[in-house]
Amino acid sequence: MSQPVIVDTKPIILALEPGTYFWCSCGQSQNQPYCDGSHQGTEFLPVKFVLEDKKQVALCQCKYTSKSPFCDGSHSKL
Ligand code: FES
Repeated sequence: MSQPVIVDTKPIILALEPGTYFWCSCGQSQNQPYCDGSHQGTEFLPVKFVLEDKKQVALCQCKYTSKSPFCDGSHSKL
């Protein structure tokens, strides 16, 4: 099993507008925290999430969360 690239060891806090987003799970995107297609050729896939309302979110940047795309504190164990 491949390991994701750790982008940061803390989440990124964003106030997002309603819409559909694709979170990068591989850590190789140059457009973090979103997928830019760089996962092609790996076993990783982006994680789609939909926000119905404007919302502040904490998106995982270490890529080890078990609640993707959201931070679950896993970065503190790396
Ligand atoms: Fe990382 Fe697409 S670039 S999942």
